[in-house]
Amino acid sequence: MNKKPLNIIILAAGKGKRMQSRLPKVLHTVANKAMLAHVISTAQHLNPEKIIVVHGHQGELVKDYLRDVAVTWVEQVEQLGTGHAVAQALPYLDQGAQVLILAGDVPLITKSTLQQLVTQTAINQLGILTATLNNPTGLGRVIRNAADQVVAIIEERDATPQQRLIQEVYTGTMCVTQTQLTNKLPQLSNQNAQHEYYLTELIALVVEEAVTTVQAVMTTDNAEILGVNDCKQLAEVERIYQQRQVERLMLQGVHFLDPARFDLRGELQVANDVTIDINVIIEGNVSIGENSIIGPNVILRNSQLGKNVQISANSILDGASVGDHCHVGPFARLRPGAQLANNVHVGNFVEIKNTHLGEYSKANHLAYLGDADIGKSVNIGAGTITCNFDGVNKHQTTIGDDVFVGSNSALVAPVVIENNATIGAGSVITKIAPANQLTLTRAAQITLKKWKRPQKKSKPTGSNAS
Ligand code: UD1
Ligand code: CA
Repeated sequence: MNKKPLNIIILAAGKGKRMQSRLPKVLHTVANKAMLAHVISTAQHLNPEKIIVVHGHQGELVKDYLRDVAVTWVEQVEQLGTGHAVAQALPYLDQGAQVLILAGDVPLITKSTLQQLVTQTAINQLGILTATLNNPTGLGRVIRNAADQVVAIIEERDATPQQRLIQEVYTGTMCVTQTQLTNKLPQLSNQNAQHEYYLTELIALVVEEAVTTVQAVMTTDNAEILGVNDCKQLAEVERIYQQRQVERLMLQGVHFLDPARFDLRGELQVANDVTIDINVIIEGNVSIGENSIIGPNVILRNSQLGKNVQISANSILDGASVGDHCHVGPFARLRPGAQLANNVHVGNFVEIKNTHLGEYSKANHLAYLGDADIGKSVNIGAGTITCNFDGVNKHQTTIGDDVFVGSNSALVAPVVIENNATIGAGSVITKIAPANQLTLTRAAQITLKKWKRPQKKSKPTGSNAS
């Protein structure tokens, strides 16, 4: 049993040249979360005494992005290799700690695999996580002796053609002790193809000394150890991550019309009997109540949906809360502060922002409702807009219960429409509309009896009309 303090070092100083990007590699995202943030979250789940992140290339950007996480930041001014990076963290390690070294560009690594590595590595051992791959190109090869003991890791660029045939690779994850690092890191050399101080040289150094043995823990999941060095690998990792999430959701009972066409970039809470059609994107924190149906091409961001809700095709909800039995869309847009009580209908081309719609109210077509408090059983006609902005300030519209707003009305805020009022179509409402009465602003309809519609001059016969 490991009773020593656990320290975790995450290497994140490299530029990631192969990404061809201004952004430091570890800030590239998987499911809208930086790769480094994924690794930090996983590290946190192991409850270590300390997490040390070695940053370097555009370190300020990295630190700023992750300013809310509690880690120790250590700068590696020049990126002289993974061994050199770990050496920068050395002064921050707890005396006698067990040290887990992770790469910031291996985002799918799981807590259980790391736990295995930590528990299977005895205190007089050095543990490495390895994998056997059909295509080991680019990775460090694990060299074993005749007795099948690990004796070295050789980087591909330094490997002989014979060594390159080895399919067992180092995954970038290592478990060592503070003592081993203190003794051995100063002995690393940079006499290799990349003139870098390789952390992987540590293996040969400890084996030589014959005090420490190397414990190789082989992963059973080759997807989890994928490193991201270029955009192609980033996309592969994204797909694997998405597939894992969708599998977990299916086991929770979600019915996906096509699990390959669903993206979750955040957290989704689902009740039973939820159906999700194709090309749905979920971002931030979203919850969906029982028996709800999400139509195709819907985006749900930071929104809460009740029971028996139907969101029809091509709707976008952001910061919305939707009560039970509501129907939204197709082509509806709910913006932050849109609050629909139970049994509300919002139809096509309706935009709602910072507005509460009471029970059984409807805005079925072509409307803008912003900064409004709308009562129960209200009918908002097509083309109705709340004129909430005077060019400088936003103003509130208040609509009582059982109001009927006729089509194409402009409600110029601040304005109040009282209970059971009716607004005639095409009105521009600037003053209070009293309860139980018809209010309208409309020029009287006239008919001009002698009016004639202009006629086209008739063309001479025989000419070609064009
Ligand atoms: C490394 C391993 C290789 C292994 C592979 C697994 C070494 C020498 N090689 O190769 O055996 O198979 O990972 O994915 O360790 N970094 C720094 N400072 C540096 C250099 C790198 O912090 O000076 C960081 C990078 O930001 C990255 C990690 O270390 O997060 C790995 O570096 P990278 O250059 O990607 O190493 P690989 O070539 O992938
Ligand atoms: Ca790498």
